[in-house]
Amino acid sequence: MSTTPLHDPQNTAATSCCGAHDGHDAAPAEPARKRRTLPLWPAERRGGPHGSRSWATCFYRCGNACDKPEPNTSGNEHVRSVIDTALARRAVLGGAAVGAGALVLGHASPAAAADNFWNAGAATRGAVRGKMVSTDAFRPVAPNKRDEVTVPPGYHSGLVIAWGDPVVAGAPAFNVLRQTPETAAQQFGYNCDYVGVLNTTQPTKALLVVNHEYTNEELMFPAGLYTDEEQRRIALMSHGMSVVQIQRANATAGGWIVSNDRARYNRRITGETPFTVDGPVAGHDMLKTSADPTGTRVLGTLNNCAGGTTPWGTVLSGEENFNQYFGTEGEIPASHAAAYARYGITAEGSRGWHQTWDRFDLAKEPNEPNRFGWVVEVDPYSPGEAPVKHTMLGRFKHEGANVLVARNGRVIAYMGDDERGDYLYKFISEGRFDPGTSAAARAHNKTLLSKGSLFVAKLTGDGSADGEFDGTGQWIPLTSNTRSFVPGFSVAEVLVHTRLAADAVQPTRMDRPEDVEPNPVSGKIYVALTNNSNRGTSYPTDEANPVGSSMVRDTPGGPLRSAAGNRNGYVLEIDDQHTGATFVWRLLLVCGDPAAPETYFAGFPKNRVSPISCPDNLAFDSQGNLWVSTDGNVLGSNDGIFRVPVAGPNRGKVEQFLTVPIGAEACGPLITHGDRTVWLAVQHPGEGGTFAQPLGTWPHTHRFPRPGVAVNYKF
Ligand code: FEO
Ligand code: CA
Ligand code: CA
Repeated sequence: MSTTPLHDPQNTAATSCCGAHDGHDAAPAEPARKRRTLPLWPAERRGGPHGSRSWATCFYRCGNACDKPEPNTSGNEHVRSVIDTALARRAVLGGAAVGAGALVLGHASPAAAADNFWNAGAATRGAVRGKMVSTDAFRPVAPNKRDEVTVPPGYHSGLVIAWGDPVVAGAPAFNVLRQTPETAAQQFGYNCDYVGVLNTTQPTKALLVVNHEYTNEELMFPAGLYTDEEQRRIALMSHGMSVVQIQRANATAGGWIVSNDRARYNRRITGETPFTVDGPVAGHDMLKTSADPTGTRVLGTLNNCAGGTTPWGTVLSGEENFNQYFGTEGEIPASHAAAYARYGITAEGSRGWHQTWDRFDLAKEPNEPNRFGWVVEVDPYSPGEAPVKHTMLGRFKHEGANVLVARNGRVIAYMGDDERGDYLYKFISEGRFDPGTSAAARAHNKTLLSKGSLFVAKLTGDGSADGEFDGTGQWIPLTSNTRSFVPGFSVAEVLVHTRLAADAVQPTRMDRPEDVEPNPVSGKIYVALTNNSNRGTSYPTDEANPVGSSMVRDTPGGPLRSAAGNRNGYVLEIDDQHTGATFVWRLLLVCGDPAAPETYFAGFPKNRVSPISCPDNLAFDSQGNLWVSTDGNVLGSNDGIFRVPVAGPNRGKVEQFLTVPIGAEACGPLITHGDRTVWLAVQHPGEGGTFAQPLGTWPHTHRFPRPGVAVNYKF
């Protein structure tokens, strides 16, 4: 083992593993261990075509997907050409406002389950003092590069829980120098993303359910202290999800802390937690491995990004960039090569996990990747129950899944496949939601995602001069649980190789569909399309395309400059018939700096909006205002969370509610308790630095950063 690492910046940044800890880590240093040469990221990959996106994010979260060709080579029409047509039409028409509610479509009855105590929207029991963020005229936060959660004047931001905090009973206190797989499996994981808050029977307590999307080894481990093998084993256990009982910090204020009793619900789900597979693919040969010849039991969930809380009180979580965990020194089986390519699975992998575990070795266990890339469902009220991987919802890089109950009782799940050039999906259940509160009703509702039909979206610009910058859409059927609609694909093949099956029916290629969220007030659907850095290169643009290149800036208030590609993203608004096959769509936002000509804020005056870049996760308050969190700001600022009314005279008025600390992306968000609490997951704070030389140290409990969940409120 070499003692002169070539590519490990941890080892170039520090010579002592003890140089960066404080009193919180007062345990004596571990005995000196052998240095090792884990090439955490190749030096040549730093920088690169990632805009302001941290190279560490690119490496660890998605395996540098942007450096690689888009895996969708289908040649299907791209959403840019559809949207560009609409934008061109808007330019022709002089920028008239998008009309809201142009069509009245049958929509959901989202209040159907509001009386169930577990309903997330009802996580409001017991009075909480303070301002309603839905109506408060807060002063928008200005773009900045601070190492803080910056909220409007009068608001407070409080940390609830952070990486390493004890979760399950008996968990040891966090000690960054004494991490083991066993301690990590009992403590709050890394890189929190989705945030769900569910009621308990006690009004002052709640269950916090959080995803842990990925790990940043360069920020988690002091240089040289842990071997490659140890880092991988700790990282595997730092993925997954956490369920934590929390309680109000005092009787009526908005703050929350971890409950002082170790609640029986507290739970860590890791990369080794047994999951049950359900739906049409359960037990299929494509899911069988030597460790699981039944094809029904998978260890772990990985890269859990966004999610959704169901009306029956469970949490859905999307397995996103799962491809990066697999690799091999051997030969990729020819039988799997095409499917691997479509999902970005390569022999090189990103993390070297195949060197530690055979199941991540593509040559040894070629079916193991088929066991990831699903929507998973966790019942936080049943800590002893195995979470479920729902094969009926298809396999792709699931950002998340949000469900609503249609008027006929069927459950609709909306989902994005977060990859440049990939698709938007929806699922319609075969069974109907039971609004009852009995155990039998709840057990029934937990089966709703196991049978139904899966569709993929095609968007068509309508081209008519009707004053709308919009078009129509079609949900193309892919499969039901009993019948495939894709020639040459069985039901199981559609569900396991969903991207390939979708390619065959020519849906619309989108610019990274992330969160897809129903508005509980209007029933309209909103889609965050984060960006596509390759727009304008691999996708030629035409003269009429105003967003073929984007205006970006490098520092807050710095000069705008032009950059190739769609860098700032969009928010799409859809009037969907929910249980039907058609929809109407329009742009709500073309994000960016309001001074940039390509931007559009639903027609709202540009001089009254905050700059916004790279929308990612979406949420709604009780008044139906959209809340947007961002990931990858290319306007020189930290990421943040924004409030956007989508109806009435302020439709399109984008106002920045907070910024996250330097290096972080903003996740969550979630608005609860009568619009008095804004939940935020601070993911990868300080990213871009190393453990010894962090870019930031939020939440400032230690000399290194810790991803964590914060609540934001005003007394
Ligand atoms: Fe995990 Fe699509 O962001
Ligand atoms: Ca039109
Ligand atoms: Ca995200």
